[in-house]
Amino acid sequence: MENFTVMDHPLIQHKLSILRDERTGVKQFRELVSEIAMLMTYEATRDFPLVDVDVKTPVAVAKCRQIAGRKVAIVPILRAGLGMVDGVLEIIPSAKVGHIGLYRDPDTLEPVEYYCKMPSDIKEREVIIVDPMLATGGSAAAAIHFMKGYTDRSIKLMCLIAAPEGVKRVHDEYPDVPIFVAALDEKLNEHGYIVPGLGDAGDRIFGTK
Ligand code: PRP
Ligand code: URA
Repeated sequence: MENFTVMDHPLIQHKLSILRDERTGVKQFRELVSEIAMLMTYEATRDFPLVDVDVKTPVAVAKCRQIAGRKVAIVPILRAGLGMVDGVLEIIPSAKVGHIGLYRDPDTLEPVEYYCKMPSDIKEREVIIVDPMLATGGSAAAAIHFMKGYTDRSIKLMCLIAAPEGVKRVHDEYPDVPIFVAALDEKLNEHGYIVPGLGDAGDRIFGTK
């Protein structure tokens, strides 16, 4: 599928296997979410354009390349998306962070918005929306819809685990938005949880269950 990438790098797959394990505690879970997000950022930023620059080393002038002044906003979908922010910031320290608060109504599974705060210069920034779970796709689609109202620049979606249903929904509604995931799982269960997934990402990051 176009604009859909599963990142099968061994480091990502190894860390993901520990993340999924029900025995993994809150501290390690949080660290792994951040580490995987950091590794995924390499691939998600692969298309950033470069400019040629001359850099004077202690020995001679080196012909180098630098990222062409691209400004980035990381937009976590609260709450679980917060767990990915630090990892992305490790790689793109100059990025600003905008927040979208959405929770899934447990009965309808539809996203309900409760918070939004963007950087003042969001219009000038390429957006990377982050959320560990892409289940029905309702939350991601709502976040993309939201962000399209804020910026005409590129919008990317980065998730750790996706269900086919969620990928299809986002891709059908927003085929221009590249989706990056660490794993594409089998299906959703009757409660809208990804199978096999990792359970409730927010609860596991924040220790709320
Ligand atoms: C989870 C997850 C996504 C959403 C995915 O959040 O972090 O935002 O569910 O489901 P969807 O693709 O069916 O919309 P949740 O609503 O549980 O809120 P939380 O992050 O506050 O725990
Ligand atoms: N949200 C989660 O946290 N986990 C799932 O499996 C689905 C939605």
